Amino acid sequence: MEDSMHADVAVLGGGSGGYATAIRTAQLGRSAVVVEADAVGGTCLHRGCVPTKALLRVGEVADTARDGARYGLRTTLDGIDMTEVHAFKDATVERFHKGLSGLLRTLGVTVVDGYGRLTAPDRIAVGEREITADGIVIATGSAARQLPGVPIGGRILTSDEALRLDTVPSRVAVLGGGVIGVEFASLWASLGSAVTIVEALPTLLPNDDPDVVKQLVRALRRRKIAARTGAAVTAVEQDSDGVTVNFESGDPLEVDYLLVAVGRRPRTEDLGLEALGVELVDGFVKTDQRLQTTVTGIYAVGDVVAGPQLAHRSFQQGVFVAEELAARQPKPIDDDVIPRVTYSHPEVAAVGLTEESARLRYGDSIRVARQELAGNAKSHLLGTGGMVKVVTADNGRVLGVHMVGDRVGELIGEAQVLCGLGISATDAADLVHAHPSQHEALGEALMAVAGRPLHGH
Ligand code: NAI
Repeated sequence: MEDSMHADVAVLGGGSGGYATAIRTAQLGRSAVVVEADAVGGTCLHRGCVPTKALLRVGEVADTARDGARYGLRTTLDGIDMTEVHAFKDATVERFHKGLSGLLRTLGVTVVDGYGRLTAPDRIAVGEREITADGIVIATGSAARQLPGVPIGGRILTSDEALRLDTVPSRVAVLGGGVIGVEFASLWASLGSAVTIVEALPTLLPNDDPDVVKQLVRALRRRKIAARTGAAVTAVEQDSDGVTVNFESGDPLEVDYLLVAVGRRPRTEDLGLEALGVELVDGFVKTDQRLQTTVTGIYAVGDVVAGPQLAHRSFQQGVFVAEELAARQPKPIDDDVIPRVTYSHPEVAAVGLTEESARLRYGDSIRVARQELAGNAKSHLLGTGGMVKVVTADNGRVLGVHMVGDRVGELIGEAQVLCGLGISATDAADLVHAHPSQHEALGEALMAVAGRPLHGH
């Protein structure tokens, strides 16, 4: 490869945000370079969304195997071969990594291997190599946040190490009851571990609707997952046998492994940003609504931009910036209507405003309806409880949908269309939902909020 090259757009980081920028740039007939220190696909493909969902699928199959008697099937789970489990997970990742690499190649995107730093507003250096571009996009993502006094290593893991753990721990604790904490707790419980979630705030998934979280916590408790909320950890110690977590009050917790899942920090250090005048706020890149940083021509997408750290937000931001740089005048992305799914057993899925935030914004004229999954035939067949909650403005416009129950993540598509397009629940309630499907529960909630419940009262 030559020592210097020029492209219309150069992207620092080949994760969801970075590769989406490059793909869309190439689709628009422009040249794109992606600088990636590790592997294209980034955290989501290699250490996040994809491998965790592969393991959660394994957990689902394990639970189903144990649950056979409910359906008259004589099934048992005779054991778990973690080597095979990892082989399934790794093959899944590899398949999509190959697919992505092939797509970038076909589209003519140049991938430069190495660690890049900005040296001028239109320049990235990768070792001796130099890339100049008309537009530069920072897409360097995030890394697990660490806690002072809790060094990662040995039996103290972040999600990166937890994904490679070759044993099923008999006792495990998760520090942080956010999305990662709840998903890993659910996974390990499915594999047979005794799990405790430790959360500093009074509730798990603090950003989710409290009614949804209440049902989630009840379901997790039924699965014997303990939650210590409002817990102040004073010290964490490990030796070769295990980890002890000490609290301000209450008994210490003795476990084989501790997962630290207390959020993710943006990876914006050592990129040469501040020297060029790219302003950071708490480590996040400051951008305007059009994702341009404080330096003209330098943009940012994905987890380095403050807001929900979700792969699908990164994709969308990447597409947006590619179109912006191609002078296509795309519509800015509204973070409020980005769907959020926690893939635990049961799942939590939400889009739009919670009841509380809708009340703060629109006052007490908002309308709220809940539909329990207990009356939904498909949910019964799956053996799941849960509920769907719809929040609308006083004119009926859907402001938020919040759901809990197995597979409700698959319902988020309909919910996001309602919210994102500002559709009225009264109009949507006229649509026929297929029977039997879990979508019917959302349909019933829409009918209820529109004032004409069918099976309710
Ligand atoms: P998070 O911000 O969702 O949750 C972190 C939790 O840790 C919070 O509830 C916080 O109160 C708690 N916490 C912080 N310090 C603590 C302490 N010292 N002791 C006890 N608890 C403490 O972050 P998480 O779960 O690490 O996930 C990182 C990001 O990755 C999130 O933004 C999430 O959206 C994303 N992600 C998304 C997934 C999905 O879409 N399915 C799956 C996994 C992660």
